[in-house]
Amino acid sequence: MNPVIEAINNRRSVRAYEQKPIPKDIINTIIEAGNQAPYTSMTRSQPWRFVVVQNPEFKQKLFQTAFPFWKNAIDGMKEAAPELYKMATCLYDAMDEPKDVIYYNAPAILFVIGPASGGATSCALACENIMIAAQSLGLGSCYVGFGAMIKGNAEVIQALELKEDEAIYGPILLGYPKVNISTEVANALEKIGPIKKEPVTKWI
Ligand SMILES: Cc1cc2nc3c(=O)[nH]c(=O)nc-3n(C[C@H](O)[C@H](O)[C@H](O)COP(=O)(O)O)c2cc1C
Repeated sequence: MNPVIEAINNRRSVRAYEQKPIPKDIINTIIEAGNQAPYTSMTRSQPWRFVVVQNPEFKQKLFQTAFPFWKNAIDGMKEAAPELYKMATCLYDAMDEPKDVIYYNAPAILFVIGPASGGATSCALACENIMIAAQSLGLGSCYVGFGAMIKGNAEVIQALELKEDEAIYGPILLGYPKVNISTEVANALEKIGPIKKEPVTKWI
């Protein structure tokens, strides 16, 4: 099979990671792949920049900032979307401490930062390149929208150097997929796994 097609087809969101650091050159290769993504000519050059977070204390700060948003969203699902609520709480209950239901204790969190206005499509393409590159190098990844809910923490904003007119795309979690996970976690992860439909295609 063509290795690019293979990486695209085999990529799945990974929500359990080995606590093993990723070599810096591998992270740089992945970032370079993100940097090669197409972008709108309106921005003349790539509109994105990247912040790699590996520091455990900083990751803890990110989690503490984003978690209330997750909790609020999940609680809101209790009545509106009971199935989703059940899936999310099942995973939370099954997880070992620290129950990081946002960044899943990934060794690296890659923030793709770009213009808040007119940057979403280009930055999303960079994110996809990043995830495919990670897959091709034996790493797991996950785009975690909840992970961007960190604007309430001035210290975090300052560290990311996030400006008023910038937005976070991703962040993308990176790490080696965890091999030995408990049956409870495996079952919970299976439940939140994707439902993949065949392509809906019209030929004209
Ligand atoms: C914009 C966006 C936001 C996402 N946010 C989250 C998230 O906060 N937490 C999470 O576990 N997965 C998140 N995902 C991953 C999706 O749940 C996942 O891609 C989808 O279920 C398809 O599964 P697959 O990636 O394994 O093919 C997000 C994906 C996208 C594209």
